[in-house]
Amino acid sequence: MGSYLNNSFFACGLILLFCLGCQEKAEQKDTEVDAKPELVMYQPSEMANLMNAMYAYNLQLKQQIIDGEVPASMPLDLMKLHSAEMSNGHQRTAVWNNFVNVFIESQQSVVDTLSNIQLKERYNAAINNCLACHKTECTGPIPKIKKLLIQ
Ligand code: HEC
Repeated sequence: MGSYLNNSFFACGLILLFCLGCQEKAEQKDTEVDAKPELVMYQPSEMANLMNAMYAYNLQLKQQIIDGEVPASMPLDLMKLHSAEMSNGHQRTAVWNNFVNVFIESQQSVVDTLSNIQLKERYNAAINNCLACHKTECTGPIPKIKKLLIQ
C-alpha cells in the first residue's frame, strides 16, 4: 500500500511537472503574439486609405507616361482631401490648407490633354506637391513618394 501511494505521488509529481512545462511554453507563445499587436490591430484612417489610393494611381500614371501613353482620366475623388478623417496626431494645419488646393490642381492638370506643358513636367509637378505637404505634415512616406518622380 505504502509503495502504491509513493508511486502515485511520484506520478502526480511527474504530471504536475509536465503541465508546468506546457504552461511555460504556452506563455512564451502568448508573449510572442503579444509582441506585435499593432500590426494586427492597425486600422488605417480614411485619409491614409485615400493617400494610398493616390499613391497607387500615380504609380500607374508613371508607368503609362514612361510607356508613352497619354492618361486622360483621374478616377480619384480629390475633394475627399477636405473631409476625410485623419489618424491620431494629424489634422488640417495652416500648412495643409496652403498645400492642398495647389496639389489638387496639379494632380488634375496631369490628365489635361489640352495643356501645352509637357506631360512629364505636369506629372512631376504633382508629385513635388505631394512632397511639399509631406515635408512638414507627414515625413514617413517621403522616400516612397520620391520614387514616383520620373527622372
Ligand atoms: C496637403 C497635404 C498632403 C498632400 C498634398 C499629400 N499628402 Fe500624403 N499624407 C498627408 C498626411 C497629413 C498624411 C497622414 C494621414 C493620416 O495618417 O491620417 C499622409 C499620408 C500619406 C501616406 C501614408 C498612408 C498610410 O498608410 O499611413 C502616403 C503613402 C501618402 N500620404 C502619399 C501621398 C502621395 C503619393 C501624395 C500625392 C499624390 C500625397 N500623399 C499628397 C498629407 C498630404
